[in-house]
Amino acid sequence: MGLLDGKRLLVTGVLTDASIAFNVAKLAQEEGAQVVLTGFGRLSLVERIAKRLPEPPPVIELDVQNTDHLDTLADRVGAHLDGLDGVVHSIGFAPQSCLGGNFLNTSWEDVATAVHVSTFSFKSLAVACLPLMKEGGAVVGLDFDATKAWPVYDWMGVAKAGLESCSRYLARDLGKHGIRVNLVAAGPLRTMAAKSIPGFKEFEDSWPERAPLGWDLADTAPAAKACVALLSDWFPATTGEIVHVDGGVHAMGA
Ligand SMILES: NC(=O)c1ccc[n+]([C@@H]2O[C@H](COP(=O)([O-])OP(=O)(O)OC[C@H]3O[C@@H](n4cnc5c(N)ncnc54)[C@H](O)[C@@H]3O)[C@@H](O)[C@H]2O)c1
Repeated sequence: MGLLDGKRLLVTGVLTDASIAFNVAKLAQEEGAQVVLTGFGRLSLVERIAKRLPEPPPVIELDVQNTDHLDTLADRVGAHLDGLDGVVHSIGFAPQSCLGGNFLNTSWEDVATAVHVSTFSFKSLAVACLPLMKEGGAVVGLDFDATKAWPVYDWMGVAKAGLESCSRYLARDLGKHGIRVNLVAAGPLRTMAAKSIPGFKEFEDSWPERAPLGWDLADTAPAAKACVALLSDWFPATTGEIVHVDGGVHAMGA
């Protein structure tokens, strides 16, 4: 018996096999789920990476800034699955000017892009999938603790604070559909998104030391396992929650 036997999932955010979403898709399949992936931009790359999963899943195109993609998403997923029990939002992007210590000078246009892709898209994705979630289910997003101002994370931190709030409002409005909405706040992981943050090394140096459980920057499995748990039937009364998977850093003083 797998934790996700019979579950039908849409997983966004696979770019490389270091992507958090790659490990979510892998573990979900190992736990018995049927998975469809979405890819952004370099679809042939995502398709190549998808072949490394235990069961190579279909890949459909989704740019969360493209309303046509969102409007047709349910039909395109519906061509592969007769419904959805879970959706994973593992999407983040901010223009370079939003990161790395330029906080006081970033333009609204660049901040708007960061918030559109990293925050508003959580709502867009959930609503686009709603027609397929007739029996309820779970929506899970990937967060980075937004209760503090971090070095270099800057406007992405603001976007994540918005994501945390968005998640609570979605939990409020989707509860009546039997849909739970939760976030996994992961510690720093060496993915493509992380490498694009100038000064990410500051996190790399301090996190493993500060974490009471220690922290492996190259291991996406703990975050992926939490996503799988939240997608399963084992959190039936949990919504609007943020599960920290960070080795315990969020609970420590300076
Ligand atoms: N890596 C970390 O340290 C870390 C820590 C906590 C949370 N997170 C979050 O985890 C999530 C996944 O990031 P990751 O670290 O696995 O990196 P990643 O680079 O592997 O994944 C980011 C994904 O976002 C997708 N994306 C960007 N713009 C998009 C758009 N317009 N439409 C659709 N998809 C788009 C990319 O294609 C990519 O698949 C992000 O929300 C990120 O903020 C990452």
